[in-house]
Amino acid sequence: MKAITQDEYGAPEDVLMLKQMEKPTVGDDDVLVRVRAAGVHIGDWLVASGLPYVIRLGYGLSKPKTSVPGMEVAGIVETVGKNVKQFRSGDEVFGFCRGGFAEYASVSQSALALKPANTTFEQAAVVPISGFTALQAIRDQAEVQPGQKVLIIGASGGVGTYAVQIAKACGADVTGVCSARNVDMVRSIGADHVIDYTREDVAQSGKRYDVILDMAGNRSLSDLRGALTPNGTLVIVGGSGGRWLMGFGRTLRAVALSPFVSQNLRQFMSKERGEDLITLKELIEDGKVTPVIDRTFPLSEAPEAVAYVGQRHAQGKTVVTV
Ligand SMILES: NC(=O)c1ccc[n+]([C@@H]2O[C@H](COP(=O)([O-])OP(=O)(O)OC[C@H]3O[C@@H](n4cnc5c(N)ncnc54)[C@H](OP(=O)(O)O)[C@@H]3O)[C@@H](O)[C@H]2O)c1
Repeated sequence: MKAITQDEYGAPEDVLMLKQMEKPTVGDDDVLVRVRAAGVHIGDWLVASGLPYVIRLGYGLSKPKTSVPGMEVAGIVETVGKNVKQFRSGDEVFGFCRGGFAEYASVSQSALALKPANTTFEQAAVVPISGFTALQAIRDQAEVQPGQKVLIIGASGGVGTYAVQIAKACGADVTGVCSARNVDMVRSIGADHVIDYTREDVAQSGKRYDVILDMAGNRSLSDLRGALTPNGTLVIVGGSGGRWLMGFGRTLRAVALSPFVSQNLRQFMSKERGEDLITLKELIEDGKVTPVIDRTFPLSEAPEAVAYVGQRHAQGKTVVTV
């Protein structure tokens, strides 16, 4: 089969190569998926580049442990392992995995769900990771309630476009922050208010929010706390800056400070949970969430797709078609 492979860390265009390789083996609890589309996640850029360096502790010190990148897919079930009862050949599925930038991916049955009926493979492929990150941040970390004022910084990105729609589905009054070119899109997915960060500074506006989700990672902790109500909740989803920790220092300061202040300052790391795929499928089929796709690349151009996502200004999600 054709697959994108990676043997070293570096710029995506330099280290990601299209090669011919064997189809993956399928364990007893696994499903062999014929990949139709793979979502491109900022994590693919981080693993390609090996940055920040701290991620190499988990992904491989000198070179990546997983040779085929790609963390989320949608496709058609080819074969199933002997313990798999819930899927069969021909089912249309989506889920999270390792090795998604390939014609076939072996995926644990617990990391798959049937594809939402009203989506294309491209749309379904871009749901898993950004979708469950937004879902867990809004529902489990911030515990957003109807009527709460929620500020989403980075509302036009991969996680942000889901966060806006899921916060609206929870009944919140949602303000999205993005650049001028994305204002109309963020409004179109349901934000009640949109702040163009090139013209207005959330820290200077004098407005206060019950919940702030920060995906952009470029505001100081004191700026974010200044825009939060006295008992509000800040969920730090993303960071930026520095090749070693990429903003993780700010997150650690927030966690250390939280017990001593009235505001709730939370560090957040999403979890790969199959049941959240079902929740996202239901939100999509109910028309409450629609994936936003920016650009589509063929498999051979996956390195360019990963580099594009690494610029951190994609409008929603980027997808690779197989
Ligand atoms: N904690 C976790 O488990 C977890 C999981 C997934 C992702 N993440 C992290 O979450 C972050 C976002 O991921 P993503 O996939 O959504 O990235 P993305 O698609 O690149 O989105 C980045 C967003 O940040 C906005 N942005 C850029 N500069 C900004 C600024 N100066 N002020 C305000 N907004 C700005 C962009 O808007 P414009 O394009 O309009 O400028 C865009 O909406 C990343 O740091 C990622 O590593 C964390």
